[in-house]
Amino acid sequence: MKGPGKIVMLTAYTKPMAQLLDAHCDVLLVGDSLGMVVYGLDSTLGVSLDTMIAHTQAVMRGSSHSCVLLDMPFGSYQESKEQAYRNCARAMAESGAQGLKLEGGAELVETVEFLVARGIPIMPHIGLMPQRVNEMGGFKAQGREDDAAKKWTTIAKHFEAAGAFGLLMEGTVEPVARAVAEAIKVPLIGIGASPACDGQVLVTEDILGLFPDFTPKFAKRYVEMGAAVSEAAAAYASDVRAGKFPALEHCFGVKK
Ligand code: KIV
Repeated sequence: MKGPGKIVMLTAYTKPMAQLLDAHCDVLLVGDSLGMVVYGLDSTLGVSLDTMIAHTQAVMRGSSHSCVLLDMPFGSYQESKEQAYRNCARAMAESGAQGLKLEGGAELVETVEFLVARGIPIMPHIGLMPQRVNEMGGFKAQGREDDAAKKWTTIAKHFEAAGAFGLLMEGTVEPVARAVAEAIKVPLIGIGASPACDGQVLVTEDILGLFPDFTPKFAKRYVEMGAAVSEAAAAYASDVRAGKFPALEHCFGVKK
């Protein structure tokens, strides 16, 4: 899908959400962002492989069209290529996902080559890597150094040569992301990157207005579902307190 048509990708963590998104997306990502969005953690570092597998199984039950990717969590693949294979093989076998996403730079290239050679489709995640939030000093846009375009295009080409089926670039200044998209033959998915990317991904809760804690500059909100949920809960509470709900039409065995 490299080329003029754009690849549409959104995150999904549950079966009902996957069912709603599936027909509209090419790729559903079970992102480790679920640690922050669903579980209220401050970062993605505390997410376990068991949690990622359980949510991916749920998403698989709700999708029939999209390619589903599982995000390998912090600590599950960085130690060695053997550790990465063990955990990635388990993730593929138990979740049913069609591919995996791993965050990393030059140090990850050898692991990606090892995994791809053994039948595991990999999408490396470059640029801003949330699993490295402590090293990066926060969720800050990357690629402001003079040599950033050269550095990231070189890494991206190494990943491509290692067999990655696509790359994802997050939170990186536009000219650098554009240079990477133009330099590689496999698709580059962007998030806070560049319109020149071959596809775009966002956290679904961000486009729906369902994650009140923080909205990144790169997210676009298409609907205010948070406000709608709050209004519905208030209306329900008011009905229950006023004795208006349930009405007899919501009850069983009502005598006419
Ligand atoms: O975890 C995630 O949802 C991600 C996307 C933000 C790309 O990695």
